[in-house]
Amino acid sequence: MIENIILENTYLRKFEIGDAQDMFEYTSNPNVSNYLAWTPHESVHEDEMFIAMVEGTDEKESIYRGIYLKETKKLIGCIHIYNISWKHMHAEISYILNPTYSSKGYATEAVRSVIEELFKHGFIRIQALCIVGNSKSDNLMKRVGMNYEGTLRKYAVLADKKAYDMRIYAICVE
Ligand SMILES: CC(C)(COP(=O)(O)OP(=O)(O)OC[C@H]1O[C@@H](n2cnc3c(N)ncnc32)[C@H](O)[C@@H]1OP(=O)(O)O)[C@@H](O)C(=O)NCCC(=O)NCCS
Repeated sequence: MIENIILENTYLRKFEIGDAQDMFEYTSNPNVSNYLAWTPHESVHEDEMFIAMVEGTDEKESIYRGIYLKETKKLIGCIHIYNISWKHMHAEISYILNPTYSSKGYATEAVRSVIEELFKHGFIRIQALCIVGNSKSDNLMKRVGMNYEGTLRKYAVLADKKAYDMRIYAICVE
């Protein structure tokens, strides 16, 4: 459904197995997985296995696209589209950026483009959730035009086995 997307500074495409080392740069960083449900990767092999798992996934259920820097063709992050309802035409997105490349607007341009693409394909609502306190994610959702809809109590159990409240944001077609 989502073809390659070319943006100002980055482009989005499916992962390839050769991306594992670049992926490991951010999946091994504890600051990245801080607010996520997995622990930092300890070897590139985990990323190779993850890429193989993604390649075998039915894109009607879950879609990953890597974010690549145009200048170097390096994988610097990704976007995940999941909880896709083809009946109600809504979906959820999440995103990760290698911190070395943060604060330049790369994640914002990527998320914006995926939302536009999903709307073009007939989706009417895209939502995203973040753990309370993940201000970078909060700011990104607001920047792409999503509206805060409320806080879901004890909604996610993270790697430390504790349940965290999550803020839900969404954007709908006009
Ligand atoms: C969430 C996450 C992707 C946000 O990354 P980010 O670097 O803040 O996002 P962007 O690349 O869009 O950069 C935005 C920043 O660049 C600035 N910026 C510069 N040029 C910009 C441009 N042309 N367009 C938009 N923003 C621009 C923005 O003002 C913003 O500044 P800030 O850092 O002071 O807020 C990142 O923090 C991350 O990967 N976190 C770990 C994983 C995670 O928690 N994911 C969310 C799960 S819900």
